[in-house]
Amino acid sequence: MDSIVYLDHAATSWPKPPEVLEAMRVSMEEAAANPGRGSHAMAVKASRVLYGTRKALAALFGVRNPNDIVLTSNTTEALNLAIKGYLREGDHVIATMVEHNSVRRPLEYLKRTRGVQVDYVAVNGEGELRLQEVEAAFRSNTKLVVCSHSSNLLGSIIPLEELGALVKKRGAVLLVDAAQSAGVLDIQVEDMKIGMLAFPGHKGLLGPQGTGGLYISPDIDLEPLLHGGTGSQSEALEQPTVRPDRYEAGTPNTVGFAGLQAGVRKVLEWTPRQIYRHEWELTQMLMEGLLTLPSIRILGPEQGKARTGIVAFVSDTYSASELAFRLDREYGIAVRSGYHCTPLAHMAAGTDRMGAVRASVGISTRPEEISLMLQAMAEIHG
Ligand code: ALA
Repeated sequence: MDSIVYLDHAATSWPKPPEVLEAMRVSMEEAAANPGRGSHAMAVKASRVLYGTRKALAALFGVRNPNDIVLTSNTTEALNLAIKGYLREGDHVIATMVEHNSVRRPLEYLKRTRGVQVDYVAVNGEGELRLQEVEAAFRSNTKLVVCSHSSNLLGSIIPLEELGALVKKRGAVLLVDAAQSAGVLDIQVEDMKIGMLAFPGHKGLLGPQGTGGLYISPDIDLEPLLHGGTGSQSEALEQPTVRPDRYEAGTPNTVGFAGLQAGVRKVLEWTPRQIYRHEWELTQMLMEGLLTLPSIRILGPEQGKARTGIVAFVSDTYSASELAFRLDREYGIAVRSGYHCTPLAHMAAGTDRMGAVRASVGISTRPEEISLMLQAMAEIHG
């Protein structure tokens, strides 16, 4: 393959650590029977892969019982399980103006079909949320607060600890969408009073696509999203009550979860703190260079402020799609343009009519790649 400068880590991190590829190869060769079904040696090995993945995730997120982590195929499935499994007719939900469509669409669906009421709390142009505004949105029937930990457009970060304390004080449940923060920001579900945490396997946790998960506090009982075989209580008509089987019907992506386990182990070794530092420094380098181009406006928090590895921008000279196309075709630089499945965040940033270009970095991104991006941008705008 031609060499590329990959700046699309917010969509899927790439390349993966060699340990991830190796774990998937070994799992496919030695542990690819059906987990939880049958008691032969390879089925048991496959079950151990899944439990090992839950254990690694539990260590990362401060979860006491690994079986409170449900393995899913992506964050969207995890969010659908959380939202549709928790909310009942007439409940009120507070969300924010940086939510991704994977939160907004299930909420809007429940608004139509279950009479669920939804408020989206405003953020400022940089994507910052004021907790007073969240507090003011509470009603007597508020059951859930859903919040993207870090905007996939702006890179802005929500103060989780304070939000968790507020939601707990008001007697509701906090559901966190950690699509852009898992593996990069410190998340401790019990300390931060997070009721449910939805996360992807294929971004900051360095696993393959088709993996993700949902932590569900032991105090919360959700209606399952899927009904079907679990390998347990086969004679029962209802889904089993035991976790994680209750929420994991059907044969899982064992090989993918073997890769995810290896990815999480790398994250634990490198630590989210160091990964964040690396990514933040690269975003600052990119922002500094882009700010020298008069026709570029950068979205999200100002230079020097906290942000995840995302730098989205608009150009006065080129449309977002044209710029992304030229970066790809002429320079081999992969970025994402358009609306990033988050029209709400585009509204907050004032880019809802034009979209934006988003460059996003990961643990494998090198400063030389940022220099190549800046050089390309200077040439295109020269
Ligand atoms: N939600 C992912 C993104 O932001 C795919 O690109």
